[in-house]
Order: sequence, then structure tokens, then C-alpha cells
Amino acid sequence: MNMVRVGIIGCGRISDLHAAGYLKNPRAKISAVCDADIGKAKEKAHEWGVETYCTDYSALLADSTIDAVDIITPQRSHEVLALKAIEAGKHVSIQKPMTVDMNSADRMVAAAGASGKVFKLAENYVFYPPLVFAKRVIDDGLIGEPTSMRIKFISGSSGGWDVPASAWNWRIDEHIKGFGMQTFDHGHHMWSVAWYLMGNVERVSAWIDSVDGGIDCPAEIMWKYEGAPKYGSCDYSHATELHIPSRYYANDEWFEVTGSKGIVMVTRCTGNVCSGAPVRLFRDDHWTEYLDIDSDWASGFKGSTDNFISAILDGDAPMLSAERGREVLRMDLAIQESARTRHEIALAGFRGPVDSAWAEE
Ligand SMILES: NC(=O)c1ccc[n+]([C@@H]2O[C@H](COP(=O)([O-])OP(=O)(O)OC[C@H]3O[C@@H](n4cnc5c(N)ncnc54)[C@H](O)[C@@H]3O)[C@@H](O)[C@H]2O)c1
Repeated sequence: MNMVRVGIIGCGRISDLHAAGYLKNPRAKISAVCDADIGKAKEKAHEWGVETYCTDYSALLADSTIDAVDIITPQRSHEVLALKAIEAGKHVSIQKPMTVDMNSADRMVAAAGASGKVFKLAENYVFYPPLVFAKRVIDDGLIGEPTSMRIKFISGSSGGWDVPASAWNWRIDEHIKGFGMQTFDHGHHMWSVAWYLMGNVERVSAWIDSVDGGIDCPAEIMWKYEGAPKYGSCDYSHATELHIPSRYYANDEWFEVTGSKGIVMVTRCTGNVCSGAPVRLFRDDHWTEYLDIDSDWASGFKGSTDNFISAILDGDAPMLSAERGREVLRMDLAIQESARTRHEIALAGFRGPVDSAWAEE
């Protein structure tokens, strides 16, 4: 096989960036799209130049010409869709967070492992070029032994692209059920970067509050890395009167890792609050600014879809793997639990609320 025929399930807000990745990959073809809303399925099929569209994912899964599916629906539906796709013999990519409880994650990891097919959790931040560059800086020893990481998240009152009410509704529903919109749903990206740049996390502690009684900000989240005096923290703010310059969502992030010999900073991600070089390195008494690194947030999606295709065709490791997706979910759930109980949580053996009663087809 030298071409992967992909079926997309879920044609909502973020699907455009997945589609753009496949459309630019000469070894991928979007063969069919599916959305429960026929209007969206038809609109995206037309935009992406795809002939086949449907509202019933079973029809897409029954199509033997489709090799792989990309599941881009709300997380409460991820397990059902992923297990059906695996049963139908497809390679599977699934948007983050993998699912909403640890039992569900265990079932997905087991099914993925038994399938003999690629299973990938789509996480764009670990393919965002400035973060990939920072990882290389750290791995090459340019900042010495990393000991601490700081992440800043900020959301504003305006900026970015239009997000339809339908994409907010299920997030608000999750939020009410205790899965914070910024600290859980978006938090997945932060905890993936925490792992990607500095390794496995051992324990977490969190405050999660709200300036407006809705959004789960401000929040202060801390973690300790496994087996060493290494720490991370993430500072979440919601600025209720601030416009965020962004081509995507009205939020932004920046990152800083300090090591024994230097500091590496990634100055922007979703938006463009900080101008100048997207990566800066301080060592030997001076800053080096890396100006020529692509800092378009969408490039992380391109990297992620390319990884899915090369995992299928070339045997590359999918990133994130099902197992890593489960560990990021564990941290995500532990942070919510720590804020609820105001206790530090050790991740080893942590299960959180198991079998959330609201997972649905
Ligand atoms: N990586 C990122 O930066 C990023 C950004 C936004 C969203 N996401 C994730 O992507 C997923 C989708 O988010 P979104 O913002 O695009 O949401 P959205 O609400 O805009 O789109 C979801 C789509 O899925 C469709 N759908 C739901 N259940 C379905 C089913 N059973 N069969 C077929 N279609 C179904 C809905 O009709 C809707 O069109 C979520 O898991 C979210 O957390 C990731």
C-alpha cells in the first residue's frame, strides 16, 4: 500500500485542520466523510473535494476501500467510535482527550493493542514546530539538565476564528459535569507538552477557580516529575476584556524550560500575543533568537496527520500512542480531582471517577 484512504468522522470546527493535513499529504486521500449533521457532512465533503458523505458512521466503517478513520467528535463518543472502527479493521486516529474515564481508556488500550492496526491519539502540540525545536535543544543538551518548566495559558474575550454555538454546547455540558473546559479539555495539550519536553510525571497539585463563574480560570497547576527534583507549573488566566491576536481560538500559550546550563523559551502557540522569535535560547551569557521557525499553530496538525500516515505506511511510532494517551488522561483527571479535594494526587494507580455515566454513542 502506498496511499492511505481516510474516512473522517466528525466534521466540526477543528476538522478543517485535519483535512488540510491530509489534503497536503501526497500519500493520503480523504475518501469519505461522516457527520451526524447532514449539512456539515455535505458542506465539508464539498469543501474538501470528497464525493462520499453520510450521517451514519456504520456506513463509513462498512466501506472496505477505507483503510483508516480519523475520529474528530466530542470525547464522550470517542470510545464507542474507536472500538467500532477497530472492529471494522481500520487504522484509527482519535482526537484528544482519548476519552473521559480510566476504565474506558483501558478498554481502548486493550482493543488497540489486539488489533494489529495503528492507533494514534491526535495531539497537535507535540508536532508544533517551535516545541519540536525546543525538544531538540533539550535533547542535544544545550540547556544542560532540565529541572523546571513553566507554561502560561491565557484566554481572552475576543479574537480568532468563529466557533459555532454547537461546538461550545457539549463543552459547557462537560464543564458542568466537572471536566473543565480549559484545564481538562484544553489541559490535555499542556500535560502532553509537560511529558514531551521533560518526561513522566509522578504527582500533581491544583487550584482551579473562576473569574466569571463559568470558565475554569484562574488556575494554578503544579506537577513533580518522576524520581528527580524536577517540577512544572501551569498558570491559567482568563482576561475578560482582552483581545487575543489569533487566527484560531482566542487563547495563547508560552513555555519555558530551565536547565542547569540555560533556558529555552517557546513564545507563542495558538495565538500571537508575544511577538518576535518563536524560540529563544539563553546560555553562555547571551540569548539566541530562532526567527525562521514556522510558528503557525496549524502546522502541528499537519505534523500529526503526517505521523498517522507514516505510522500506517512506514511503521513509524504513532504519537501519542494509546498508552501515552491514557497516561495524559490520568494526569488530566488527577488535576481535576486535586482541585476538587485540594489534595496532592500521586498518579501511580490513580483512577479518578471511573465509568462516567454520561459516555454516549
Ligand atoms: N487538537 C486541538 O487543538 C483541538 C481543538 C478543538 C477540538 N479538539 C477536539 O476535537 C474534537 C471535536 O471538537 P470540535 O471543536 O471540532 O467540536 P464540534 O462540535 O465543532 O464538532 C464535532 C462534530 O462531531 C459530530 N458528531 C458527534 N457525534 C457524532 C457521531 N456519533 N457520528 C458522526 N458525527 C458526530 C457533530 O455533529 C459535530 O459536527 C473534541 O474531542 C475536541 O476536544 C481538539
